[in-house]
Amino acid sequence: MCGIVGYVGDREATEILVKGLKRLEYRGYDSAGVALINHGLVVQKGKGKVIALEKALKADGVKSNIGIGHTRWATHGEPNDVNSHPHLSESGKIAVVHNGIIENYNTLKKQLIERGRTFQSQTDTEIVAQLLEEIYTTSKGVNFEQAIRLALKQIVGTYGLAIMNEETPDRIFIARKGSPLLLGIGEDEMFIASDASPIVEYTNKVIYLDDGEMAIVTRDSYKVKTIDDYPLTKEVHELAISLDAIEKAGYPHFMLKEIFEQPRSIADCMRGRINPDTGKIVLGGIEDVIDELIHAKRIVIAACGTSWHSALVGEYLFEQLAKTPVEVEYASEFRYRDPLIGKGDVLLVISQSGETADTLAALREAKARGAMVLGICNVVGSTISRETDAGVFTHAGPEIGVASTKAFTAQVVVLIMMALELGQRKGILSQSEMNKYIKELSKIPSKVEYILEHTDEAIQKMASLFTYAPNFLYLGRSYNFPVALEGALKLKEISYIHAEGYPAAEMKHGPIALIDEMMPVVVIAATDHTNDKMISNIEEVKARKGRIISIMNDDNPEVEQLSEFHISIPTTADCFSPLLTVIPLQLLSYYIAVNRGCHVDQPRNLAKSVTVE
Ligand code: M6R
Repeated sequence: MCGIVGYVGDREATEILVKGLKRLEYRGYDSAGVALINHGLVVQKGKGKVIALEKALKADGVKSNIGIGHTRWATHGEPNDVNSHPHLSESGKIAVVHNGIIENYNTLKKQLIERGRTFQSQTDTEIVAQLLEEIYTTSKGVNFEQAIRLALKQIVGTYGLAIMNEETPDRIFIARKGSPLLLGIGEDEMFIASDASPIVEYTNKVIYLDDGEMAIVTRDSYKVKTIDDYPLTKEVHELAISLDAIEKAGYPHFMLKEIFEQPRSIADCMRGRINPDTGKIVLGGIEDVIDELIHAKRIVIAACGTSWHSALVGEYLFEQLAKTPVEVEYASEFRYRDPLIGKGDVLLVISQSGETADTLAALREAKARGAMVLGICNVVGSTISRETDAGVFTHAGPEIGVASTKAFTAQVVVLIMMALELGQRKGILSQSEMNKYIKELSKIPSKVEYILEHTDEAIQKMASLFTYAPNFLYLGRSYNFPVALEGALKLKEISYIHAEGYPAAEMKHGPIALIDEMMPVVVIAATDHTNDKMISNIEEVKARKGRIISIMNDDNPEVEQLSEFHISIPTTADCFSPLLTVIPLQLLSYYIAVNRGCHVDQPRNLAKSVTVE
């Protein structure tokens, strides 16, 4: 949450900062600002999106070759002009942008006020600028870099920080604890960002800062150290993402582009890992730990949001295909219990961004207790992917829309491949079963393509009929229960319609009371071993005049007859069906949100990467 950019070099900094902030806007978008050096520190900031900042900067016409910028997702203090970043020290000479939460800011603020400092904002970030200036101006023989280290020692909490001081106009100081920061290395220019998207246009050489590290960055040099001043030699990584992948490519929204990318992203996720000729699956990322995985007492999967829904699909998969017991946990709950996890257990964390604070904390907790920790991540180089013992990347390509779509299907594909590989290695799945599964799995991209081509128009029509429904209920069974949860989450997060996902049979234990002729009920009725039971549940809804929208397999006359609207999709193995059933639900929520005039890619109150707990 919150995006940070920085630039130092020969180009016009404002252009690079604004472009970078636009790319990071998915991390927060309630206010934005930059600090530049042009004969002293100049700050432009305010409530609203980056586009408003861009206009203000154009009007100002300030030129500079060095600057830092920020796009905010408010934690402390409402989104307004004053609380926007950068925050300045009292003298106005030091500017700070921050991602994270300073937990002891109240205590520090009180102390600073007692010592005579005046604060402008309600933010936790301002204390960094003020404390830093106090230390710098009052401690004898302490240079600015040392002052930063001393200030950081007093700070409790998480931070990705970029700092400028007009007295050191050629450099930017950055520091990291808990919130991601990258340094991009160019030819006589350096870039700083919360993720690679603002950097990729200029250089593919990056350094990932780790927790407890800081760097001093000038146009032609960088020094990375620990906060305790221990010099480090960091590995320079090569970015694999392309510029095309982070642009809309003619689509009106990233979400729609990402939905339509799924035939390719699913194929990319499987590429080189499944082999229909040999009937084998090899996941290189877990090859070294496969024995421990085979002998694991159980797998605990921890995740948040959509990733938690794919974890639920994973539970069904591992239990059916590999006969391995699985528990699924909300990462945020797992860490605050006293979880019974240790040696012999495997914690599998799933995260698109690889930066979700609660998921990261669950990982660290399980690791500290002796469990092996595996990850399924989309973002290469992310904190979670670097802290896990082993893992599998989803290779879905950058996901920028706040509502997760292609990451979900790619996570499910990885879980399928893991469960199949495990099932085979444990001797649970015969070669002929493997051959069957792999053959079917390799058909999924074309089936997804078929669904996108053949259902898009019908879903748009259906969406226009339900645009103003105040509530929705989603029902599914077995593998499609998590899909019901996911469909409901998609709808509520981008269209602000109240929606609930439920296991279809559970409906009788409460939610059935909500059903009347106003209630759209989306039933995910893939023809599997639960089909008959599902038909009974649909009858129960119909008897109460609920409006049934079904996602069903081609040729299911009973469901078709009971439904007011139906979307037919191709059949597949039961355990692969979430990969197909979720697609119409993604489209439905997208078109409803567009009809309601909602900001699809940047829904209110949300951020793509939730780096606060
Ligand atoms: O990056 P992660 O997968 O760890 O993110 C987890 C959730 O924050 C995320 O899935 C969120 O629920 C999405 N907005 C859902 O569309």
